[in-house]
Amino acid sequence: MNTKYNINDTIKEKILEKLKSSKGKSVSGELLANELSVSRAAIWKQVHVLIGEGYMIESSTNSGYKLMGSPDKLTPGEIKAGLKTEFIGKNIQYFKETESTNIIASEIAKTVEEGTIVIAESQTGGRGRLGRKWISPEGGIWFSVILKPKMQPLFASRITLLAGVSVAKTIRTYGIPAKIKWPNDVLINGKKVCGILTEIGAEMDAIDYLVVGIGIDANVDTGYFPDEIRDTSTSLKKELGTEINRVEFVQKLLMELETVYLNFQKGGFAPILEEWRNLSATIGEWVKITTGTRTIYGEAIGVDTEGALIIETGEGQLEKILAGNCEHLRKP
Ligand code: BTN
Repeated sequence: MNTKYNINDTIKEKILEKLKSSKGKSVSGELLANELSVSRAAIWKQVHVLIGEGYMIESSTNSGYKLMGSPDKLTPGEIKAGLKTEFIGKNIQYFKETESTNIIASEIAKTVEEGTIVIAESQTGGRGRLGRKWISPEGGIWFSVILKPKMQPLFASRITLLAGVSVAKTIRTYGIPAKIKWPNDVLINGKKVCGILTEIGAEMDAIDYLVVGIGIDANVDTGYFPDEIRDTSTSLKKELGTEINRVEFVQKLLMELETVYLNFQKGGFAPILEEWRNLSATIGEWVKITTGTRTIYGEAIGVDTEGALIIETGEGQLEKILAGNCEHLRKP
């Protein structure tokens, strides 16, 4: 596990950035040492750390270092190289494996800057909504973003809806018609490809932090999933018929998330709600909603300004559901 971030990590990331931007050309050790104001030995040491992480780097005494290949990993160096965001993903805590990125993010949330992300190649105890387990094997995208919006806890669900919109929009850039099932499952052709779990740290009237945990079945083989979710889940790999570049996907998603979040802070929630409605797979469907205390059947006719689902029940009455499990049913 690596939670500490130190000067060597910074040198390593800068070397990687330089090697990547040199696009297959060699960069001399001397030039790197001068630019980063460290010794050539320090450069050599970090190049070897990169090699240990799976980077293929050719080194020659005459011409220096040349990047020949990168590992298929969601490391900070990979994600940050070419990331165009202002604050989301500027600080990345990376784990090859962890219990749950939401747990780590909640532990560090108070002490790190807004936009910090915690990301893992796999999770041993991934958390889902309503106390469920979230299966998180290698090949998926499992991460948590720490946000610190200045607003009342009452409005926290707006951020979850906003995150769902960002994921659906990012998937759509791959030509896939992703939609959102209330409140925030992202579906492709009716099957779940992404779940979002937001956890909150708050005082009575102000949010300290939100941990927005996003799980995407990217290059995952859903055939290995347990029976109860196998037929209702899909992956980007399955839908596209080929593996996606996960680093590129995360970079696009972080950019989208930041854009939507900043628009929300400037322009309010109404435009995002409009986008959510346009992407909704639930509005117009017959649904079964299960809350902690009751089960409600009816037609989903809309979502209000807090993100609550409006259901027209059989008796022509309207019900407003703030939280619960939603199943789409066949029309009676
Ligand atoms: C759901 O039940 O639909 C929500 C699933 C959320 C899963 C993600 S994966 C990254 C983050 N860490 C967790 O333990 N859960 C969230």
